[in-house]
Amino acid sequence: MAEVSLRKLCPADIDLLEVNFQSVQGAGEAQWFGFWDTSKLRNRVAQDQMIGSADGALAVCLGEQVIGKADWFTVTSWGRANTSACWEIAIGIFAEFRGQGLGTRAQELLVDYLFSHYPRHRIQATTAAENLAEQRCLEKLGFTREGVIRQAQWRAGAWHDQLIYSLLRDELAR
Ligand SMILES: CC(C)(COP(=O)(O)OP(=O)(O)OC[C@H]1O[C@@H](n2cnc3c(N)ncnc32)[C@H](O)[C@@H]1OP(=O)(O)O)[C@@H](O)C(=O)NCCC(=O)NCCS
Repeated sequence: MAEVSLRKLCPADIDLLEVNFQSVQGAGEAQWFGFWDTSKLRNRVAQDQMIGSADGALAVCLGEQVIGKADWFTVTSWGRANTSACWEIAIGIFAEFRGQGLGTRAQELLVDYLFSHYPRHRIQATTAAENLAEQRCLEKLGFTREGVIRQAQWRAGAWHDQLIYSLLRDELAR
């Protein structure tokens, strides 16, 4: 079977993201916040290929085929930005490729990538309390569920609880 890999986004990939994520079925019920402006993404790809110092994104591939997008961004909520910053990750796999272990593998690759190339020691992830697939992915990768962020997210006409997870550098090989 073809292998999952991560590579830099190119302009043609944004068309695929547009087609695959701009609907409730495409984004997934727990990730659908209405239509979003892909021109910002196109500008970022043109500007720095989505590899910034504070955030970034990569295409998720199965063999040569793009099947989703993996993101990371800086969180500075826990202390001073210059000493307490950590990464937060997010992922979207195109609907037809879900449920085959690919989202778990893509996040494993992203975690390895971030710990390999940046000295930060904490990676966190937040996900909707209803998003059992993402919770299972994170737990399979060794993330610890830290708690509930109550009614923090407005989506589908209601407030929704979020769950926060983290993985520390020295837990990676556990
Ligand atoms: C969440 C997402 C990334 C998971 O990727 P995926 O490739 O579908 O997930 P995997 O196949 O690697 O693993 C999913 C796990 O969740 C489990 N799962 C899926 N749906 C489930 C449900 N409704 N209840 C319980 N477990 C569920 C699967 O059985 C599997 O666990 P297992 O290997 O122990 O059987 C993907 O579904 C997706 O892109 N969803 C839309 C966007 C999104 O929600 N992103 C995450 C929030 S940032």
